[in-house]
Parts: sequence; structure tokens; C-alpha cells
Amino acid sequence: MYWQWDPSLSVGIDVIDSQHKRIVEYINELSDAMGRKDRTAVGAILDGMIDYTLTHFTFEESLMERAGYPILREHKLVHESFAKRMREHKKHFTDGGDVTRQLFADLQMWLTNHIKRDDKDYALSVRKVMEEKSWISKTLLRLFG
Ligand SMILES: [Fe+2]
Repeated sequence: MYWQWDPSLSVGIDVIDSQHKRIVEYINELSDAMGRKDRTAVGAILDGMIDYTLTHFTFEESLMERAGYPILREHKLVHESFAKRMREHKKHFTDGGDVTRQLFADLQMWLTNHIKRDDKDYALSVRKVMEEKSWISKTLLRLFG
């Protein structure tokens, strides 16, 4: 399985696109490690991917908040339910299970539905915030270190 970021996933904001690309890379690393049946690597990649994704969600939420995005609450709920499912997949793995097709189905859903619909929608609203360069760099630094 090899996933590719393609321009149909672009939300039109570079910093967000590059975070989404990083998550696609994680998915591919995960898929490779699973192919090698390397459980140690799968566990480490899952941890890294979940951690990165949660930070990315927090960054998106800060942007939406700053822009006064009207349906931030709904968007946050979608993030929370995705995060919950990711943690459940991780727990299932830690308890000795395999990373199932269901995890990839969730990721596929996130890429196709969430990015293409929900993220593109907020992107329209946060464009003006993107001009606040110093706020963006400070927030990136605070969240991603
Ligand atoms: Fe989002």
C-alpha cells in the first residue's frame, strides 16, 4: 500500500498542506513497517503519527479560533472523535492485536472526507489570519517546538 498526497488534497494553505503531507508520510511508514512485520517499528510510528496528528489538530483549531470560524465547535468534535479512534487502534495494538484494515479505512476517510470537505471549508475563513506571519510562527513554534 502506498499513499500519495495529491493536489486534490490541497486546502490552499502551504503550512497546512505540509502538515497533511507529513501525515501521509507517516501512513506510508506505517504501511512499510507492517509489511516488514516489525512490531517495534509499527508501535513507534503509531505513537509518532498520533502525536503529530493531535498537534496538527491543535494548530488547525488555533487558526480557526483566531479567525472566529463559526463552526469551530463542530470541527473540534470531528477531531476529537478521530483522535479517540486513533487511540483505540493504538490500544488494540498495544494489547497484542494487529493494526487492522479499519485503521487504514479511518485514515482514508480522514484524508478524503475530512481534508477535502471540512478543512477546505475552514481554509476559506482563515486566509486572513495567514497574513499574520508573526502569530503563525509563534504558534507553530509553541506547538511543534
Ligand atoms: Fe481538520
